[in-house]
Amino acid sequence: MQIFLDSTDTKVIADLASTGLVDGVTTNPTLIAKSGRPMLEVIAEICDLVPGPISAEVAATTADAMIAEGKKLAAIAPNVVVKIPLTRDGLIACAAFADEEIKTNVTLCFSATQALLAAKVGATYISPFIGRLDDYGFDGMDLIRDIRAIYDNYGYETEILAASVRHAAHVKEAAIIGADVVTIPPAVFAELYKHPLTDKGLEQFLKDWASTGQSIL
Ligand code: G3P
Repeated sequence: MQIFLDSTDTKVIADLASTGLVDGVTTNPTLIAKSGRPMLEVIAEICDLVPGPISAEVAATTADAMIAEGKKLAAIAPNVVVKIPLTRDGLIACAAFADEEIKTNVTLCFSATQALLAAKVGATYISPFIGRLDDYGFDGMDLIRDIRAIYDNYGYETEILAASVRHAAHVKEAAIIGADVVTIPPAVFAELYKHPLTDKGLEQFLKDWASTGQSIL
């Protein structure tokens, strides 16, 4: 499973990318607004920091305007993935990008039929929003499970990019179901490796090792 960061904070992205565990980055208009920086500049910087896929979202709502914006975003760097909302116009734009072999991430997916249509128009990634479904009393993981089954039934190559992730349990469940990618807020990254028993065990090992007076080097 690939791990993307859902962030526009270039300092944090650089720090976490240095672990070698970051495969890509996703952004959205809210995260761009939070950065307080010009979008094209931030995306270019992230593309330099992480060689993997970097999603940059269009702001237009008509297919023609989405296509024009998407082409401008795709020209920033070869690893840009054009992020498009899952609307009727978004699906039309997605098909046009697929024809031109421009990679796409179809976002704001909340139903399996939306995901089916995104695959039919050749989306590179589909982004089902787990956390926002959970917030509304649904089980976001049911959606990941349904999309996995549908894509496997028909051999669609669109990758399932589990988004709107709130905690490590979401990552675990998405991995068990077989999501191809998970995009996580930086705060969730540490949750993936930290465990109190690891810390406790290491503390004891270090104490016992010190008592031997030995040195490996
Ligand atoms: O980038 C899309 C998605 O991950 C947004 O997550 O936390 O705003 O629901 P959230």
